[in-house]
Amino acid sequence: MAEDIKDTKSSNQMWGGRFASGPAAIMEEINASIGFDKKLYAQDIRGSIAHATMLAHQGIIGTEDKDKIVHGLNTILSEIEAGQFVFSRKLEDIHMNIEARLADLIGPAAGRLHTARSRNDQVALDFRLWVKEELQKTESMLTGLIAAFLDRAEEHADTVMPGFTHLQTAQPVTFGHHCMAYVEMFGRDRQRVRHAIEHLDESPIGAAALAGTGYNIDRHMTAKALGFREPTRNSIDTVSDRDFALEFLSIASIAATHLSRLAEEIVIWSTPQFGFIRLSDAFSTGSSIMPQKKNPDAAELVRAKTGRINGSLIALLTIMKGLPLAYSKDMQEDKEQVFDAAESLELAIAAMTGMVRDMTIRTDRMKAAAGSGYSTATDLADWLVREAGLPFRDAHHVTGRAVALAESKTCDLAELSLEDLQGIHAAITADVFNVLTVEASVASRRSFGGTAPSEVRKQIAWWRARN
Ligand code: ARG
Repeated sequence: MAEDIKDTKSSNQMWGGRFASGPAAIMEEINASIGFDKKLYAQDIRGSIAHATMLAHQGIIGTEDKDKIVHGLNTILSEIEAGQFVFSRKLEDIHMNIEARLADLIGPAAGRLHTARSRNDQVALDFRLWVKEELQKTESMLTGLIAAFLDRAEEHADTVMPGFTHLQTAQPVTFGHHCMAYVEMFGRDRQRVRHAIEHLDESPIGAAALAGTGYNIDRHMTAKALGFREPTRNSIDTVSDRDFALEFLSIASIAATHLSRLAEEIVIWSTPQFGFIRLSDAFSTGSSIMPQKKNPDAAELVRAKTGRINGSLIALLTIMKGLPLAYSKDMQEDKEQVFDAAESLELAIAAMTGMVRDMTIRTDRMKAAAGSGYSTATDLADWLVREAGLPFRDAHHVTGRAVALAESKTCDLAELSLEDLQGIHAAITADVFNVLTVEASVASRRSFGGTAPSEVRKQIAWWRARN
């Protein structure tokens, strides 16, 4: 189809009946959405085929017209997919571009397709279908990321590293346990995605402009044909609602926030100062001036994508917040936000999955750091409670003195002599040295969900059964 093959100079061919003149150039520019909503072509065609089939089944249009419509729509699908379709801005959006081309192809029968529907329920349908597919894709990408973490967790169930609070060394943990923290986070994201799919699984088509229609349509039939659980129950809500898009963006923002925290850890861990991991060449870049540098650009960009995704959520919330029922053109601004966020989230999950799978874990560096910073001080206090019967508060005080002594001698707790320790509290025996190593510390934390390798392996098995 050549651009503007129709006479659209005077007024719009789809709704121009009562208009004497065409739109001002600037009107066309602000009004047109074809530049971005052409992404919805496949959903639009699927929806139109289901709608036309239902209209014929109900005797609202003839079977012959329906056949022409379906054939024409399939032709258009191939034209678009072959890159042969010329999109026209004068025809505003994907819906009218396709309908105009259908008229070129099949003549007057094309005019029957829009019976008992409006662009308001049409766009609600197309966009819902698109978001549903995107949520399904997100679910499987999150499953891939979770699988990457499960593998790394299994491999490093016994690898000790420092656990942090306030980014200060707190207590030794295992790298496997740390990985499993992300499995929990991305597992929750995946649950949110699954719930969102359930929430949006209702078909909007047949709500028409806002009030439903006088034609004897069958909305259950179209809902079923399009893979929805059931039709929506209120036509006004149906054309006003963009909760499904907001829900996608909220989920994307939370997932991106998780990805960003992970990205930040990767940035920190890969510094020479920490040296906990080495990123693969595939996921880092060099510096054009400093030959020694290996930069974690992919992680930094994942961290930055979060800003874009959060921005999209705020943009759409703000677009929707003051809109009276039912449809307003403001809602046309929903799509770019969702498309951009979806693209960013896909990239971020894919890059992160690659980084997690590829990165080298420097177990020696992690172990050395795990033992520094008096990370087993709590274990000494716990030993005093358990073996010497001290109340925890007193044990905490005694341990504080031991840490101060070690600090003054610039040594670790385990390097203090028994005499030193007994000088602080007489009940301390040589047995205490068994709990002052990082391995003993992590192995002792067998409480449900704790960092002991045995416990981490149980959690890995729990997730494997559900992944
Ligand atoms: N391009 C429009 C959108 O994305 C389609 C719906 C137009 N509806 C209308 N009543 N003008 O929202």
